[in-house]
Amino acid sequence: MIGCRHMTQTAEPHYFTERAVQDWTRIATRHRIRDEYFLRAVERYLRPGPILEIGAATGHLSEILQHRGFDVTASDVSPRFVAAIQSRGVRAQLVDATANIRAQTGRFFANVLAQGVIPLVRRDPATANATLAAIHAALEPQGRLICISPHAWRDPDPQSYFRPREQIEIARASRLYRIIKVFPHQVVPTALYRSWNAGILNFLDFHAARIAAVRLVWVAEKIR
Ligand SMILES: C[S@@+](CC[C@H](N)C(=O)[O-])C[C@H]1O[C@@H](n2cnc3c(N)ncnc32)[C@H](O)[C@@H]1O
Repeated sequence: MIGCRHMTQTAEPHYFTERAVQDWTRIATRHRIRDEYFLRAVERYLRPGPILEIGAATGHLSEILQHRGFDVTASDVSPRFVAAIQSRGVRAQLVDATANIRAQTGRFFANVLAQGVIPLVRRDPATANATLAAIHAALEPQGRLICISPHAWRDPDPQSYFRPREQIEIARASRLYRIIKVFPHQVVPTALYRSWNAGILNFLDFHAARIAAVRLVWVAEKIR
């Protein structure tokens, strides 16, 4: 599984288990300092208004954004993750991102945030297109989809996932979005981040990223 190698064998059912909550709580803790810095750079691409995070796992990105004053809802297809998000004190909702997000949430959003969300990254064009359409329908006019797309190089089965540039091409070809920003991120192993070195590592994660970044960030704006 992308972002967590030992999960590959169990694939999707894993996300519905208590073990997944433990795994992703640990991952969230390990990524916390990196993500506090990273999200400061992402914030400039957010439109004013509410944010929906899809496939949020335990919702640590949303928690950081909420602490910064954003109106954020974190969602996932797994009820266990939704409970974990709630226990962080973040507004949580059960959302299958491949279905009608607008109907499931009952509202529109100015922004949708998606980091490594399975229906967008797994090599299944029909599902990726259905998910992009569902996000589009839940966005306000000129709303933005912000995707953080990891490379699957280290996954035992990298061919199972779209490369980040392929994801961007699918979004562009859908004619539902225009791509307004693409940038590589992260060269430093996340585990090296400490509060005392985070400033310099964050600098490297952005400025050395053109050499060998492990993920691509892309921002797509709703065009119709
Ligand atoms: C690789 S994890 C990423 C978790 C989190 N975004 C992060 O980066 O820490 C993939 C996430 O996609 C979620 N997911 C899988 N299928 C989904 C669907 N149909 N709708 C919404 N989320 C889904 C999983 O439950 C899981 O939380």
